[in-house]
Amino acid sequence: MEYRNLGSAGVKVSEIALGNWITHGGQVGDDAARSCVEAAFDEGINFFDTADVYERGRAESVLGETLKGVRRSSYVLATKVFWSTGDTVNDSGLSRKHIIESCHASLDRLQTDYVDLYQAHRFDSEVRLEETLRAFEDLVRQGKVLYIGVSEWTAGQISEALTIADEMGFDRIVSSQPQYSMLWRVPEAEVIPLCRREGIGQIVWSPLAMGVLTGKYKPGESRPEGSRGTHGSGIRAAYLSDETLTAVQNLKPIADELGISMATLALAWVLNNENVAAAITGATKPEQVRENVKASGVKLDADTIQRIDEILGDLPQRDPNLTGG
Ligand SMILES: NC(=O)c1ccc[n+]([C@@H]2O[C@H](COP(=O)([O-])OP(=O)(O)OC[C@H]3O[C@@H](n4cnc5c(N)ncnc54)[C@H](OP(=O)(O)O)[C@@H]3O)[C@@H](O)[C@H]2O)c1
Repeated sequence: MEYRNLGSAGVKVSEIALGNWITHGGQVGDDAARSCVEAAFDEGINFFDTADVYERGRAESVLGETLKGVRRSSYVLATKVFWSTGDTVNDSGLSRKHIIESCHASLDRLQTDYVDLYQAHRFDSEVRLEETLRAFEDLVRQGKVLYIGVSEWTAGQISEALTIADEMGFDRIVSSQPQYSMLWRVPEAEVIPLCRREGIGQIVWSPLAMGVLTGKYKPGESRPEGSRGTHGSGIRAAYLSDETLTAVQNLKPIADELGISMATLALAWVLNNENVAAAITGATKPEQVRENVKASGVKLDADTIQRIDEILGDLPQRDPNLTGG
């Protein structure tokens, strides 16, 4: 496993991270969740991503239980705040009240005194950014949070936050968590160029397009039993169109020539962007974790990148206005 700095911050994260959206406390049982986390540690993954909202807190609880007894300094733990975690008016968003309360609830569920990275899951246009950033700053000063990040913020929103942080003497955002894959290139136009200049690293979600880029969904065929495609929500409808699935199958010869799996090819593709600090993968089985880590250290040459672009043509989404979706 190779490790990269989280933007310009000193902390190092594994190029392949393990996230637990949909899986822990949801699609998979606690034993499978534990096996995936154990496989992750075996393979050198040190970076875990979750959120207060995943399975209404259950995902954090399962991860916290699984990490119990593991030396705290041996891993980097990230969680998030924004989406609704309860039924009342203050149970969502980026107000000082919700940030502080949700952080305390996350620490409880994760059974830890601090999270390494605390992220604003979305931008909150109803709260002054100064209020949000001061609440995050207070958590940093209290030692409950080590670094601050954002998810699905536009370049303009990140830029505004940096200006305020500099004016107020707050710690700066170190990471941005956008969706990014061969099929979703939205951050390339604005977010990545700004972040590269400002020393902010991308930790990208759904790098396998929710499993589609592994090639296991075939056009005109029923979805593999037990996969996310049969689990209900979780995969963008456009990713499962025959047109997309056919194009994805056409990537297989490239993976075969390189002697790697399609999952490895897809993950190596996102890691090819130097502003990406980590690809946050999901997994329902430990074998998937063991397969996905093989992407660390794989370099794709310009010819391979170009062939991928030609095969996918106009299918990838690129419009920066889709940020936050
Ligand atoms: N910030 C945000 O708004 C946001 C949003 C979404 C996700 N995230 C983060 O990103 C993480 C990853 O998202 P994701 O789960 O959609 O990522 P993904 O890596 O694109 O998809 C993961 C899913 O693909 C399948 N899979 C993984 N490896 C495979 C392999 N080698 N072969 C075959 N199938 C494989 C598994 O599902 P099946 O076995 O069920 O097919 C797995 O759960 C989340 O856990 C979360 O931490 C953040």
